Amino acid sequence: MTDTAVNRAVPSDLPGLPRQRGCPFDPAPGYARLREQAPISRISFPGGGSGWLATRYEDVRAILADPRFSSRLSTAAPHVRPAPTALPEQPLPGALLRLDEPEHARYRRPVMRAFTVKRVQRLRPRIQQIVDERLDAMERAGGPVDLVAELALPVTSLVICELLGVDYDDRDTFHGLAGRLLAIESSPEQAQQARAELASFIAALVAAKREQPGDDLLSALIAEGDADPDSPLTDIAVTVLGSLLLIAGHETTANMIALGTLTLLESPDQLAALRSDPALADRAVEELLRHLTIIQFGLVRAAAEDLTLRGQSIKAGEYVVASLPSANRDPGLGIADPDRLDITRDPAAHVAFGYGPHQCLGQQLARAELQITLTSLFARFPHLRPAVPADQLPFRDDMIVYGLHQLPVTW
Ligand code: HEM
Repeated sequence: MTDTAVNRAVPSDLPGLPRQRGCPFDPAPGYARLREQAPISRISFPGGGSGWLATRYEDVRAILADPRFSSRLSTAAPHVRPAPTALPEQPLPGALLRLDEPEHARYRRPVMRAFTVKRVQRLRPRIQQIVDERLDAMERAGGPVDLVAELALPVTSLVICELLGVDYDDRDTFHGLAGRLLAIESSPEQAQQARAELASFIAALVAAKREQPGDDLLSALIAEGDADPDSPLTDIAVTVLGSLLLIAGHETTANMIALGTLTLLESPDQLAALRSDPALADRAVEELLRHLTIIQFGLVRAAAEDLTLRGQSIKAGEYVVASLPSANRDPGLGIADPDRLDITRDPAAHVAFGYGPHQCLGQQLARAELQITLTSLFARFPHLRPAVPADQLPFRDDMIVYGLHQLPVTW
């Protein structure tokens, strides 16, 4: 898929993706008007060219489930990056986010087995232990502490490191790489360099585990590839899968922990409801995921053929942005007052984890980490509060994954 079709004659004064938030907990206000008046609209991209923006829940789900929309994009995040990186035309084996069916399912299936509800259930005691140790350390240090550096990142990083068999002592390396991969302003060279460094870091690990297997997912995937001549799990595929899991497995949930904590601290009635009934944790997490939708710029697909969407004709090769934050605030989601945070409501069928064949593979793990961390944190520190006013906090408007760069708290 190339950019050529994208550059067909379009008006030069097209708006860009709505990005200017009014409130740090809500998507840009522009989405509400688009949902009503122009649910499939044309937008310009910061690095040149244009595409389409889908803002309604129904359309976002339809696009993400429709095989006529491909994930094999030749450009990374063209809707937000001023200088989008060109990706290789041919996705690497195991690059789940860039593969279409049926190839995608061949790589997803073996990994999926490690992240089922049942498997994650078995991890819960260990997650609880990790969270408790971090809370002990916070208590010993005394406030104020940065909740991102002392709790959110360590918990999610330790869990994914133990699962994959990555040494937690290497966290500075992969935290730095995640930052470079997810920053909108990263130049194509910086992003490419970060991708290459991540791949060689994991490739070295795969080579070491081939010599000396451990009780971890990377070793299990290598063994599965060796045992079955029809398996797609070559060392390259395991390296690519491992790279994706390491980054996706810590950065997203860490940001949800920090932003979810702040949201509850800023909504005292909601926090009081959770404190008085910790059994609400499951609902609270679901509602926070919906309300905050940290994959803030949505997901991009490319039309694999000419097609029509709500009367708009979309040409093969054109990009379509499926706005997850907008879909999750759409009255079409079927919940009352979707802009209101209500942790007691029946969980909505939100799209914070995407939808369709690429729907988040780690969602059960993310839920478990969020439920355990939030309930334990608020139980341990009844007087937890931000150490600086909310309007002085560094929100991640500059990153693909929204959240907070730091969250100083005290108690
Ligand atoms: C709150 C936390 C998380 C959020 C909001 C989130 C969100 C998402 C979304 C929206 C997608 C769909 C991408 C697409 O369709 O193009 C996705 C895919 C994915 N996520 Fe997550 N994620 C979270 C946590 C995790 C964790 C903990 C892991 C790993 C253990 C993980 C691993 C993955 C992988 C491997 C994919 C690619 C799946 C595929 O293409 O088949 N995610 N995630």
